[in-house]
Amino acid sequence: MDTLSSPAATAAAVEQPVILAQNLNHYFGQGELRKQALFDINLEIQAGEIIIMTGPSGSGKTTLLTLMGGLRSAQEGSLKLLGQEIQGATRQQLLQLRKQIGYIFQAHNLMTFLTAKQNVRMALELHDQYGRGDMDAMATDMIRAVGLENRTDYYAENLSGGQKQRVAIARALVSRPKIILADEPTAALDKKSGRDVVNLMQQLAQEQRCTILIVTHDNRILDIADRIVYMEDGRLADHPDPAALVH
Ligand SMILES: Nc1ncnc2c1ncn2[C@@H]1O[C@H](COP(=O)(O)OP(=O)(O)OP(=O)(O)O)[C@@H](O)[C@H]1O
Ligand SMILES: [Mg+2]
Repeated sequence: MDTLSSPAATAAAVEQPVILAQNLNHYFGQGELRKQALFDINLEIQAGEIIIMTGPSGSGKTTLLTLMGGLRSAQEGSLKLLGQEIQGATRQQLLQLRKQIGYIFQAHNLMTFLTAKQNVRMALELHDQYGRGDMDAMATDMIRAVGLENRTDYYAENLSGGQKQRVAIARALVSRPKIILADEPTAALDKKSGRDVVNLMQQLAQEQRCTILIVTHDNRILDIADRIVYMEDGRLADHPDPAALVH
């Protein structure tokens, strides 16, 4: 039942963890059909850590990621995100929390009828604290940071897969979230675009001291992780030998 944590994280343990799961269980379905998807998950993640989660298809990675994003409610056990308990949290508390989290999915979920910059700007419109001019400047800066300054006004549908994914990263990072959750962010990309995308996430995260949790089967990007955790049959373990993950 030990909470998994790296030595670096333990040294910095005076700070409260950004994500703290304790004895977390999760079930899908009701009655006879009820099936347990997560079993006794214990995980502690500190500010600024980059964690990669890997493991077989159907092992529960996306389920855990969506719980950690406040996208579904915790049923059993404890899950604290940025100090807030998710188990039993109100809809309003979850909404507040989600504003501090950036999401990147395999399917980039861009609005194809909006331009690159408008897609990024949209993430800021959800927060009511920015003025129009500020939002414009922030979106422009972030588009530049992901290397798309010459595509700012292109409609998303006219961008390549790698370019769309970079817009999705810009959109996730523009509001300077404390946590970035990414589910297979490189799955649709070729080797070079995939590398560029994770390098960019790493660089921007370091600048913003943000925590990143990436679910991936892509063993070409394992090296950016401070720590790799492995999910199998709904259970989590630190993986003893990252090389053994290559499959
Ligand atoms: N909405 C749902 N209703 C019922 N069962 C679900 C639901 N979502 C996931 N499951 C089940 O929970 C288990 C874990 O699914 P999950 O999507 O978390 O796996 P995963 O590790 O992300 O897999 P993959 O690598 O294929 O994306 C699977 O057995 C799946 O069938
Ligand atoms: Mg999944």
